[in-house]
Amino acid sequence: MNMSQTDQKRAAAEAAVEYVEVGDVIGVGTGSTADFFIEFLAGIRGKLDGAVASSDASAAQLRKLGIPLLDLNQVGTLPLYVDGTDEATRNRHLIKGGGGALTREKIVAEASEKFVCIADQGKLVDRLGTFPLPIEVLEMARSMVARKLARMGGQPILRDGFVTDNGHPILDIRGMDIMNPLELERQMNQIPGVVTVGLFALRPADLLLIGTESGVDII
Ligand code: A5P
Repeated sequence: MNMSQTDQKRAAAEAAVEYVEVGDVIGVGTGSTADFFIEFLAGIRGKLDGAVASSDASAAQLRKLGIPLLDLNQVGTLPLYVDGTDEATRNRHLIKGGGGALTREKIVAEASEKFVCIADQGKLVDRLGTFPLPIEVLEMARSMVARKLARMGGQPILRDGFVTDNGHPILDIRGMDIMNPLELERQMNQIPGVVTVGLFALRPADLLLIGTESGVDII
């Protein structure tokens, strides 16, 4: 069997459907892998009481399927959050935000008991950082934050012509040494003007479902 990257994403997304239970309100992520998961949700619509979306794009997809959309403030802790990633290590640390939805993704992950991360095997890495690390910043702080990140060893680039669903710019940081993701996330969180760092180490995924050539690996 020759599983393309798209097939691997689809297989991982399908495997995540198993984690949805009757009466759940779940968190739903953003990106092409999360889109496959949303498509699969159509088949189990009746099981769900609703969903909290991590982006306007995913909210629109869910709305199309007739899945009730809820505001996170209306619901308590979510039993499950399913989302893709840009990079993942075997200890379930992630880089997210390639699609720009990192802030809402981090909020929904924090509000969830179980974060199931779905991805193709190309996302699995030994060390984070080949994928540029996205950081959402307040507009007035972007140059100051970029200078600080440069002093920390990264090469920040403003994501051209892009603002997040929250109306903020993103800096993509190349060349950052992510030897200690927990410490780096803590450090970056301290910089005034940083809204969200796309490192998900302090709240990692609980489970990785990785689509591979031979099926779905669970980590
Ligand atoms: C969105 O901001 C990201 O965190 C996505 O989860 C990530 O970019 C994964 O995207 P794909 O599933 O399209 O690879």
